Amino acid sequence: MKVLVVYYSMYGHIHRMAEAIAEGAKEVSGAEVEMRRVPETLPEDVLTKMGALEPQKTFSHIPICTVNELASADAIIFGTPTRFGNMCGQMRQFLDATGQLWARGALVGKVGSVFTSSATQHGGQESTILSFHITLLHQGFVIVGLPYTFQGQTRIDEITGGSPYGASTIAGGQGERMPSDNELAAARFQGKHVATITSKLAR
Ligand SMILES: Cc1cc2nc3c(=O)[nH]c(=O)nc-3n(C[C@H](O)[C@H](O)[C@H](O)COP(=O)(O)O)c2cc1C
Repeated sequence: MKVLVVYYSMYGHIHRMAEAIAEGAKEVSGAEVEMRRVPETLPEDVLTKMGALEPQKTFSHIPICTVNELASADAIIFGTPTRFGNMCGQMRQFLDATGQLWARGALVGKVGSVFTSSATQHGGQESTILSFHITLLHQGFVIVGLPYTFQGQTRIDEITGGSPYGASTIAGGQGERMPSDNELAAARFQGKHVATITSKLAR
């Protein structure tokens, strides 16, 4: 059973969440878990102005995903930062290159799941995940979220991401907040949950 964690991260928040997703998925016996980044689309001078070059160096060792790799996975867990309440352009461009996979139904029946990050608490995490699901449904994915059996999502004693739609983190206006223990626990839970369901489907 192959689980791919495919993500884009500009400042490292989604990268950290992706690591936790992968940790959770690896807990399931028989799961072969790989992390992949989608290709960058912004020119270097723009990334420099956005202060992204240095943070991105810390996860530049993660291989870039190819579209064809998606076809060989049993489950794909996608991570994207919120951009105006939607997935980021880098992820959109990557997904828009999957037309050939769509044409031959290559992703039909795979398990798909989404996690996200936003600067502000109500800045569009749910809309980002739910609108991402539309693309997954067109490709025939079986969608898995983050059930309430992950009880950390009910917490109100601290600010936290995480909803039935998927794990998430709140990065802060300057990206100053890294994923909390509770948000990382949500990501691990989601990774394990996806891998568990995938192994049942594979059987
Ligand atoms: C063009 C742009 C649009 C953004 N739109 C939103 C938004 O709608 N809501 C929000 O809370 N944060 C927004 N953000 C902040 C990002 O979501 C935040 O930088 C990201 O979640 C950090 O994750 P990363 O370090 O993995 O890139 C936006 C950032 C950029 C650059």
